[in-house]
Amino acid sequence: MSAPAPAAVSVSARLLPGGPVADEVLADVGARSAVLRARGVTAGLATLLVGDDDASAGYIRIKQQRAAALGFASPHVHLPAGASQADVHRVIAGWNDDPAVHGMLVQYPIPAHLDYNAALQVMDPDKDVDGMHPVNMGRLASGMPGPLPCTPAGIEALLAFHGVVVAGREVVVVGRGATLGRPLAMLLAQKRPTADAAVTVVHTGVGDWARYARRADILIAAAGVPGIIRPEHVKPGAVVVGGGVRYEGRRILPDVLESCAEVAGAITPRVGGVGPTTVAMLLRNVVAAAERANP
Ligand SMILES: NC(=O)c1ccc[n+]([C@@H]2O[C@H](COP(=O)([O-])OP(=O)(O)OC[C@H]3O[C@@H](n4cnc5c(N)ncnc54)[C@H](OP(=O)(O)O)[C@@H]3O)[C@@H](O)[C@H]2O)c1
Repeated sequence: MSAPAPAAVSVSARLLPGGPVADEVLADVGARSAVLRARGVTAGLATLLVGDDDASAGYIRIKQQRAAALGFASPHVHLPAGASQADVHRVIAGWNDDPAVHGMLVQYPIPAHLDYNAALQVMDPDKDVDGMHPVNMGRLASGMPGPLPCTPAGIEALLAFHGVVVAGREVVVVGRGATLGRPLAMLLAQKRPTADAAVTVVHTGVGDWARYARRADILIAAAGVPGIIRPEHVKPGAVVVGGGVRYEGRRILPDVLESCAEVAGAITPRVGGVGPTTVAMLLRNVVAAAERANP
């Protein structure tokens, strides 16, 4: 008699990788960048890093490499960890006035003595390619065109790419943070074929948030609390998107436990899910800013 097979974790969910979504977006961005170059315009993405956080330096490198591959210019300033708020504002103001810089970003987080929101407000909103400036949040809230926050826009694109119907369905977002949960809720509730959802946002103020999570057709983790989304929070067959992550050095600790794949109908992979779409949306915002500046 042969030995019984070892118990295997049954994973039934279809995977929703972000890589192919990013490839499609970047192919479009590359073509638009080439059109601009033919007109003598090189799209420019400027990046500012304050301090010496390894992970942040790594993210900047990835963004610069992708920008270079698309033929963008990518000027970079690295300020020491002890830089003042005025130093940060001076760099941003210089880029505001530089016609070769179409988009800029301040890599987050910045050292604790600095005020990220104050720095954001110095930025020309049309060059804010993270889509985080209050003017751009206002544009999003009122349905006006402008740079969209990258991770929320990436999640909408990811769902659309993989044929996940959002319109008319119940979406529950766990987290109301300014980077992800709040703008994502606004985006997915907009009147548009790839949005148009019934969106509920839960947070620490909703003690029984699991009750809402369990009824979601599409459950989106945006909390930054490792393992907060467990299989018992997922309606069988639901779509689960892992947006929230915590970084411990270079280690990624996702909000969504991998075992959720045993209950979900479709789920983003632990690595290579939402992340690649975020960078693609950033670069799309840059080329769009360059087009706007050179009509
Ligand atoms: N994958 C990517 O490319 C990417 C890009 C950007 C951001 N992110 C990730 O997205 C996450 C969210 O970022 P953010 O800046 O928008 O959020 P944030 O400001 O850190 O806020 C987190 C949200 O989660 C809620 N929350 C925390 N613990 C909870 C709990 N135990 N139960 C219920 N709700 C809880 C908080 O509720 P309260 O409001 O009540 O405190 C808050 O609304 C982070 O993990 C970040 O790393 C990922």
